[in-house]
Amino acid sequence: MMILFSTVRCFTANLTGHRPVRYEIILRDWDLLKAYIVNIMTQNMLRKRIAIDLGTANTLVWVAGEGLIANEPTVVAISAEDSKVIAVGEEAKLMLGRTPEALIASRPMREGVIADYQVTEAMLRYFIGKVVGRFQLFRPDVMICVPAGCTQVERRAALDATLAAGAAHAYLIDEPLAAAIGAGIPVSAPSGHMIVDIGGGSSEAAVISLGGVVVHKSVRVAGNKIDEAIQDYLKKKHNLIVGDQTAEEIKIKIGSATKVAKEEKIEISGRDLVFGLPRSIVILSKEVTVAIQGTLMQIIGVVKGVLEDTPPELAADIIDKGIVMSGGTSTLKNFDRLLTEETGVPAHVAEDALLCVVRGTGIVMENIELWKRSVMTRR
Ligand SMILES: Nc1ncnc2c1ncn2[C@@H]1O[C@H](COP(=O)(O)OP(=O)(O)OP(=O)(O)O)[C@@H](O)[C@H]1O
Ligand SMILES: [Mg+2]
Repeated sequence: MMILFSTVRCFTANLTGHRPVRYEIILRDWDLLKAYIVNIMTQNMLRKRIAIDLGTANTLVWVAGEGLIANEPTVVAISAEDSKVIAVGEEAKLMLGRTPEALIASRPMREGVIADYQVTEAMLRYFIGKVVGRFQLFRPDVMICVPAGCTQVERRAALDATLAAGAAHAYLIDEPLAAAIGAGIPVSAPSGHMIVDIGGGSSEAAVISLGGVVVHKSVRVAGNKIDEAIQDYLKKKHNLIVGDQTAEEIKIKIGSATKVAKEEKIEISGRDLVFGLPRSIVILSKEVTVAIQGTLMQIIGVVKGVLEDTPPELAADIIDKGIVMSGGTSTLKNFDRLLTEETGVPAHVAEDALLCVVRGTGIVMENIELWKRSVMTRR
């Protein structure tokens, strides 16, 4: 439109022999417009697009065009005096429960949502800084995933923390949708698919069809509550108090959702509840199965709830295709078998179950124009 206008003015100026004053002004405007377009295009090309799976247990960072660049525990160690970040991720996790008074090591996410805003923001700034480097030219666009069941206030907190941490534009996507995309499910097809994402702090079950979530339910029960169930069991049955990391180690090494054919055992140490002294015991996998049964049933209850609310056409699709499981806790031994037994629908764990959410978020970030309707944004 602008070029056409300039050409017309130029033509009339030549015909009438007048100085094409207006033409010069328009030409200058056109140069400005060109500079503006080039600027936007350069920014878009140089602006990094980052996808972050800000999980209760682990934070994963994916950069469009590059892939996964960080996978660290969601733990931050800060100085008690001036709240300066001392360590993030693996290094900070080693400090959990072992810090002197001058240091505080904590998990800023709880049950899938932000529990400590300041620390979460500091952690996001650390990860964004890791991607863009010290001499950043343009601030990046960042997409974070949140549980589908989180409140508007929790969503706003996630957007605000992302912008405060240095993002130019902040985007949010629902975790089950991201998990389904990352698991390779053809979410845009007109047929129903069920994804169950079981992480550290929350479990979500969703039926997806035509690129959107049709039915979903979530519960703030997942890996951490399974660890707590093991701790409770050891306290009640063996009078032994163990830390979070020991409980997680027991779960990962010998835990099973159903009875195993070959019994496994592990020696663990803790503090005696009665005498207060350190003590070691050996526990068996069948004990762990008993200890975690109630918690697993709470998670399975969510899946059953979604199946009950699923429209019949989509339910038929799900029976055909089965349930896809993602998230770290879905890799608990025999969890897929227990879910199949309890629901009557075949369930299987997605490949790279711990990476599905970040991979899906990364795919959406790389094709943001296509997914605009599925994300929430702020700048
Ligand atoms: N082999 C395993 N067996 C059982 N549990 C496991 C195994 N590997 C990892 N986990 C558990 O998976 C959980 C972490 O999974 P994931 O990284 O998907 O959670 P998250 O995304 O951080 O949490 P959320 O999505 O709830 O915010 C932890 O509770 C961890 O103990
Ligand atoms: Mg997760």
